[in-house]
Amino acid sequence: MRTLLALLLAAAPAAAAPGAGARAESLLRRMTLSEKLGQLQQLGGPVGGGPELVELAAEGRLGSTLNVRGAKALNAIQRAAVERSRLKIPVLFGFDVIHGYRTVFPIPLGLASSWDPALVERAARLSAREAYADGLRWTFSPMVDVARDPRWGRVAEGAGEDPFLGAALARAYVRGYQTSDPSAPGTLAACAKHWVGYGAAEGGRDYNTTEISERTLRQVYFPPFKAALDAGALTFMSAFNDLDGVPASENRFTLNEVLRREWGFRGFVVSDWDAVAQLIAHGVAADGAQAAREALTAGVDMEMDSRLYGAHLPALVKAGRVPLRTVDEAVLRVLRVKEALGLFAHPYADETAAAGPPDAAARAQAREAAVRSLVLLKNDGTLPFPKTVRRVAVIGPLADDAAAVLGSWRGDGRDSEAVTILDGVRAALPGAAVSVATGVAVTGGTDAGIAAAAAAAKDADAVILVLGESGDMSGEASSRAHPDLPGRQLVLAEAVLAEGRPTAVVLLNGRPLIVPELAARAPALLEAWQPGTEGGDAVADALFGDADPGGKLTMTFPRALGQVPLYYDHKNTGRPFEAGNHYTSKYLDESNDPLFPFGWGLSYTTFALRDLRLAPARIRRGGRTTASVTVTNTGARAGDEVVQLYLHRTASSVTPPVRQLEGFSRVSLKPGESRTVSFPLGPKELGFVGVDEKWTVEPGRVEVFASTCSVGGLEAGLSVAP
Ligand code: NOJ
Repeated sequence: MRTLLALLLAAAPAAAAPGAGARAESLLRRMTLSEKLGQLQQLGGPVGGGPELVELAAEGRLGSTLNVRGAKALNAIQRAAVERSRLKIPVLFGFDVIHGYRTVFPIPLGLASSWDPALVERAARLSAREAYADGLRWTFSPMVDVARDPRWGRVAEGAGEDPFLGAALARAYVRGYQTSDPSAPGTLAACAKHWVGYGAAEGGRDYNTTEISERTLRQVYFPPFKAALDAGALTFMSAFNDLDGVPASENRFTLNEVLRREWGFRGFVVSDWDAVAQLIAHGVAADGAQAAREALTAGVDMEMDSRLYGAHLPALVKAGRVPLRTVDEAVLRVLRVKEALGLFAHPYADETAAAGPPDAAARAQAREAAVRSLVLLKNDGTLPFPKTVRRVAVIGPLADDAAAVLGSWRGDGRDSEAVTILDGVRAALPGAAVSVATGVAVTGGTDAGIAAAAAAAKDADAVILVLGESGDMSGEASSRAHPDLPGRQLVLAEAVLAEGRPTAVVLLNGRPLIVPELAARAPALLEAWQPGTEGGDAVADALFGDADPGGKLTMTFPRALGQVPLYYDHKNTGRPFEAGNHYTSKYLDESNDPLFPFGWGLSYTTFALRDLRLAPARIRRGGRTTASVTVTNTGARAGDEVVQLYLHRTASSVTPPVRQLEGFSRVSLKPGESRTVSFPLGPKELGFVGVDEKWTVEPGRVEVFASTCSVGGLEAGLSVAP
């Protein structure tokens, strides 16, 4: 099947082998212009579909839908397309399956904190199966935008700030959704989004302008997309942002030159929602006709939601202002993907197989994913709480908030099926007296409930303070100018902490939060993200020591907003900070250091690294070596460590980052156990985008670091001979 897919997507249309893409060619020959443009139209609908979509499908004027769900509703549209339309071309049904469908996994930023691509792949696999059972065949995921600004609410949807980790997880999502045979039942087409640069929105304000040099695009923003493509992603989504003055949804350079010509992408590109029409607001198109022409000719094949292709391309083609060949190429791309998905052979969903509530296996998988996503930011020994505690207080506005556990883009996830932190604590300690106090609202509100919350804390042997953001405070259109603990939550925390009881703060949030005061005062701080359906159970597993939190941050937590953008792979500058030297790169009123760096995360046990070796330690340009390091669990409990490998090039023709992640491995070790992990280093890891915008490896010395965080660790030197 891999071969069929490869043929479908790789063969030039004219050279398509019979049976592989030939159907697309033969259909194209018989299509009217209206039918062709129909294939390029994606329309959003109410969940239940509706008469307009059915009619358009019957007329051959609907290529795809989004947001309609359920086998019955989708089959009604499909029947119109396959049984009533002239050419019987099936419709492709899409939806945002971002971190689960009915079973909700942690938000992608949380899943990324697991540093476990296999876990992410399994999560995507289950999500695909559940969504497929509801009739869906395409997800608008993974979002592989590198993001370095916690104000941007969509950091929740991605893997964080690092391109190497982002690429590894991009591959995992695509493999999980599509498998090696996207025509098999239970698979979805993946969509790498948002192509490209969307994560660099100025000021962290969603949809805002981006300015990114070609080198930074190639070095930082492109790699996760390339990884998604190499893993077989059948579709890409063009982004909302303008990039160096050219909107991403009419950007010939990124769409046609890089994605298609340079990388050889043979799937199709769908615009983001209304992004074709938004070319007018961007100020690059005078009207709908110009917007349609610009987008299509720049390489946007399918139009999401707006209807400008259908409205204007007939006249534009007739007038010779858009070549028919351009329309045909877009249609062929769409048809080939439909073929690769097996839609012609199996257009219908099984109406008896709808996704039900998560079963025990799905829950176990979601719980494991949530546990592995937890990041223990701070612990003075308060955690884990002994399971013998008799009186527990669960305090805070998010203590029993199912929506905050599920987060944004929750698919078909239901509040009623989610385990809140309170539920999880109760289930973990059936014999204990559990008191609950909300204290304050997430945002706004008064301090009236704080005294009762403090009283509850005073009476408890263990206090769990659940703070953070509500489920809708991150995700799309949810930027925050003050990405800190909202409302009166810090006041609540201070009052509760003042009681001096053993207290752990559990954070539920969709972005790094700027919480220096809380981090200074709280004895223990557990970052749980928005952990999904089984979030409460997973948090309780960690709080009471049934599980060891072993996740690591994939986005820096700043100390102050004024430091943003703050990311570990920054440049050194010509005047790196030097204490006591005024004219070095620094702030007068804040340190350069983050609150918690990229790669940070504690465990209930301790680990030590030794014997970082490079074999060989001298290579020729273009050669390969292997770095290996031994990690030992030096504590008394079993636990996980994420061994991280970073490089720093010295004397390079382009200023190098102070460190750049080029390898990682999460290992589970029993007390006293050791493991040696190895990382291959070749041209891919040792190279960079040179002055000519091309990948290059230069001779010189490369510093190699093995560490458990982006700071510190062991160092070895690699010499690359000319
Ligand atoms: C807009 C979002 O930017 C995109 O990520 C999503 O896939 C589409 N809407 C469809 O819901």
